[in-house]
Amino acid sequence: MNVGYNEIQKELESCGQGHLLGFWEVLDAGQRERLLGQIRGLDLRHIPRWVRETVKNECPPAVPHEFDPAPSYPPRPQTAEQEQLYAKARKTGEDLLRAGKVAGFVVAGGQGTRLGFDGPKGGYPISPIRNKPLFQLFAETVEAARRKYGAVLPWLVMTSPLNHAATVEFFEAADYFGLGADTVFLFQQGTLPNFDFDGRIFLAEKDTLAVSPDGHGGSLKALHASGVLERLKHRGVEYISYWQVDNPLVNLFDPLFIGLHAMEGAGMSSKALIKAHPTEKVGNFCLVDGRVTVIEYSDLDKEHAHRTHPDGSLVFELGSIAIHILSVSFVERLNAEDDFALPLHRAVKKIPHIDAKGNKVEPDKPCGVKLETFIFDALPLSEKSVILQTIRSEEFAPVKNATGADSAEVTVRMMIERAATWLEAAGVEVPRTAEGRPDCVLEIAPGFALAPEDLKARAGQIPPIERGQKLYLG
Ligand code: UTP
Repeated sequence: MNVGYNEIQKELESCGQGHLLGFWEVLDAGQRERLLGQIRGLDLRHIPRWVRETVKNECPPAVPHEFDPAPSYPPRPQTAEQEQLYAKARKTGEDLLRAGKVAGFVVAGGQGTRLGFDGPKGGYPISPIRNKPLFQLFAETVEAARRKYGAVLPWLVMTSPLNHAATVEFFEAADYFGLGADTVFLFQQGTLPNFDFDGRIFLAEKDTLAVSPDGHGGSLKALHASGVLERLKHRGVEYISYWQVDNPLVNLFDPLFIGLHAMEGAGMSSKALIKAHPTEKVGNFCLVDGRVTVIEYSDLDKEHAHRTHPDGSLVFELGSIAIHILSVSFVERLNAEDDFALPLHRAVKKIPHIDAKGNKVEPDKPCGVKLETFIFDALPLSEKSVILQTIRSEEFAPVKNATGADSAEVTVRMMIERAATWLEAAGVEVPRTAEGRPDCVLEIAPGFALAPEDLKARAGQIPPIERGQKLYLG
């Protein structure tokens, strides 16, 4: 019998998980060690509370009774005073970028189930002409920013145990897009166990627990646990620009956003969109006890969701799009707390597992609960927090689904539309259809222009665009 078996069995029994060692007798020494290792990795102290509060949903998180809309900065300055503030913030952001004090951070540990792509989501080909994958677009942006600001800006890529090997393989096959090991930091997030509805952890195999990534909120712990935070500090990085892997329009290093965050001395800041309609499926930025807090669309009652100002605009109009700046000192402070943990959220899912006899079960309907944490739940932990509004067509086109809303087709259309808008702002004529859509296919490589102003500087190099033409600017 392995050392540790008896204690662990006792501990498991005491929290209702004794079944996890049910196949012990048929496991070989290596399998036993593997299973014990996984069980030791669980924080068993927390299991009974997780089961009670989240798996069985006996104490769903309370929605605050009183809350106000969160204040925000508009996408463009509205007053002379704001104009000055924005100019100063932009300059501050640019100085921080030039000093190498900012890292980019893409969370790419999700399973991408809705998209159904075979491989890590960052490998999904998306650019309109060259079919560049998402990771390549980000890599080219990191390289272009390095040239623009004359500083190496580290790029953090968070994976999960489910897609880490495949992601590393993808980067290796692409030779890290020429960025080198001093720039790209690949690291893994943690996992949380999957439960049946009675609160028993599923086994995926006789020697393996069923687990899934701990949500994008897991990034805050993973930054610390992986040692990446320490490496950033050594390099003098103070700010982390956070985005999701599925949004190719994101402005990775936005000097205005970085500058506003830094000038405010904020711990965690966010970009926001004006919601398309009252119940759009995005989190709502609210103010609870003076702290910025996201209330999920499913938790915002009808009255609040539909409340309007006299001019007809929504009172709770700001939607969250998962673009943030994190101060390194904020992430460090959270991790210094004893048992730092974000609230757990409950997702009812189909979970492949083995039954009590060891037979594989591939469920065709939801059969249990996955637990995850959300990054936006860290917002109220930050004393100060800036919200900067952005414009949907400029910065938000996530690829979530294989078809329909938020599909690649929509994203590609939005990438072409944004390229057309930038070109027109630079004085280049873009042929359009009678309905106003670009009548051509356009792709602007990050190396050609990171922002509309970069394009203006190169407008003279751009040939006239014909109807139906495919124009790649790179
Ligand atoms: P989504 O919530 O869209 O999930 O993640 P997903 O896994 O990509 O797709 P579905 O829901 O299975 O279809 C938003 C972002 O958060 C990252 C994802 O990789 C994506 O960038 N994420 C999500 C993680 O990094 N880890 C997680 O555990 C969950």
